[in-house]
Amino acid sequence: MKTVLTTACFMAFALSMQAQSQRIELPPTMGWSSWNTYHAEINEELIKMQASALVEKGLAKKGYKYVNIDDGFQKLRDNNGQLLIDDVRFPHGLEPVVSHVHGLGLKAGIYSDAGIKTCASIWAGETGGAVSGLYGHEQQDCDYFFKDLKFDFIKVDFCGGEAKGSNTLALSPQQRYTDIAKAIANTGCNVQYNLCRWAFPGTWAIDIADSWRTTQDIESNWPSVKSIINQNLYLSAYCKFGHYNDLDMLEVGVTRDGILSKDETITHFGMWCMMSSPLLIGCDVTSLSDEDLALLGNEELIALNQDTLGLQAYVVSNQDGAYVLVKDFETLHGRKRAVAFYNPNETAKEMMINFADLDLAGNVQIRDLVLHENLGSFTGQYAVTLQPHASQFMLFTADERLQRTKYEAETAFLTAYHETGALDLCAVPSEAMAANCSGRVKVIALGGIAKDSMAGTSFPNDLVWQHVYVPQNTSVTLNIAYTCENSQDMHVTVNGKDLGNFSCCSGSANVVSNLEISTKLKAGDNVIRLYNDEGVMPDIDCLTLNFPKSAKSKDVKMRGKKKARR
Ligand code: GLA
Repeated sequence: MKTVLTTACFMAFALSMQAQSQRIELPPTMGWSSWNTYHAEINEELIKMQASALVEKGLAKKGYKYVNIDDGFQKLRDNNGQLLIDDVRFPHGLEPVVSHVHGLGLKAGIYSDAGIKTCASIWAGETGGAVSGLYGHEQQDCDYFFKDLKFDFIKVDFCGGEAKGSNTLALSPQQRYTDIAKAIANTGCNVQYNLCRWAFPGTWAIDIADSWRTTQDIESNWPSVKSIINQNLYLSAYCKFGHYNDLDMLEVGVTRDGILSKDETITHFGMWCMMSSPLLIGCDVTSLSDEDLALLGNEELIALNQDTLGLQAYVVSNQDGAYVLVKDFETLHGRKRAVAFYNPNETAKEMMINFADLDLAGNVQIRDLVLHENLGSFTGQYAVTLQPHASQFMLFTADERLQRTKYEAETAFLTAYHETGALDLCAVPSEAMAANCSGRVKVIALGGIAKDSMAGTSFPNDLVWQHVYVPQNTSVTLNIAYTCENSQDMHVTVNGKDLGNFSCCSGSANVVSNLEISTKLKAGDNVIRLYNDEGVMPDIDCLTLNFPKSAKSKDVKMRGKKKARR
């Protein structure tokens, strides 16, 4: 098959020559994908029709640009290893589909697997996918997909790479996905790369991919949506601009595995926006109801998702299993914050947040982003009663932004964190024996060096707050809340500077003690790291910054003044 280096590919190639691993970082991918409604039952006309419908319904203009063909288009390989396309479903190959999509001003996405077999060939009898994965054909397939066919996106599944059953290969996810990233980079094309390992794959993914699936497959029912949100509550540290946790494709308007109520649908879409997940519509766009179309096209929610800060909201308050999540919007440490109240419970829930807990003060203007209504100006706190499974998504604009003083351990970056069992050690956020901890969660199983023997890599099993922000150089007392039954060691560093090795013992896993260390922080982001390479560390609840009184009031006043001038 002839490979032509297009202008776009050539420019990206030249760039990648200049700076080896330079990638173009974008807001979360928005578009449509074929899997949720159609599974492998796809064809040329269907994909073209969905692409056209994105434009006709006004969704393309709102940002839904990628039209992604999922599993089901393949028909084995020829004697040269060339991937073949199902000639019943796509009688003219994939070229006309990509041309149609590009002709509409949209982008085209494709699917493959890190192993030999695709998921639908293993689980759904789709024999065409039996030798269609990338294994052994990395460069050949990447050249075909990106240089020849000009796809702009690829999702790479892992069914064929798994250690399950006799048909699969037991491959190392880190090794495989890194090799595939290299093959994509070799094409010189600018391609969005999505990993699909159905669990947080490991922090290495952030360096090589634009997004990575964090859960098993979504279904169009509440238990599925709830469990996906739950599994992403404490993943905010692994999201940054250009690199996102993927909560899976949207079930808005899908009825394949049940049906979501109106409240559940709003919760689903709103949380995907708060968490900066890719937004890939999964329904038949041609038959969207007006209500679902309005929700998918909600520009105020989309703005939270596409915000160039690229933040995933973090849990700031856990109220008996109902949550308040927050993230900065438009300006880091600014006066605007996106706030979600989320009630996954089976009973209605009265929820309340003190503005001080959101680091906001003065009058706070609250706008409801689903109703598109200003709710008014509030002081001190905001309360609401939420029905079961309901959420409220709001933008808070305050007179003043306060200095943040509290950093939960469950919002910190755990370098060895992964959910695939690939490493021998891994710290995790846990609710067990955390009733006395703030947020009722602590990070357990810290300490030591975690090894991935298949990939030949290792990671410190540490906890790092990467963005401890102060507006100016300041003295501070770090108050680290921890639990541990027996004496355990913990090293603390600030911006790489060793503050010492501290022996900790709270006497019981249920009792929280505090380690206090005086130090200095520099203006801007500070990195505070807790580790013990030699052995087990205490469990960590949270970090609180205590400033000398004068320093704190000065910080707040200065920030207040600056804002007043804007
Ligand atoms: C896996 C993925 C799904 C979909 C199917 C296709 O299950 O997680 O999103 O791509 O494979 O077979």
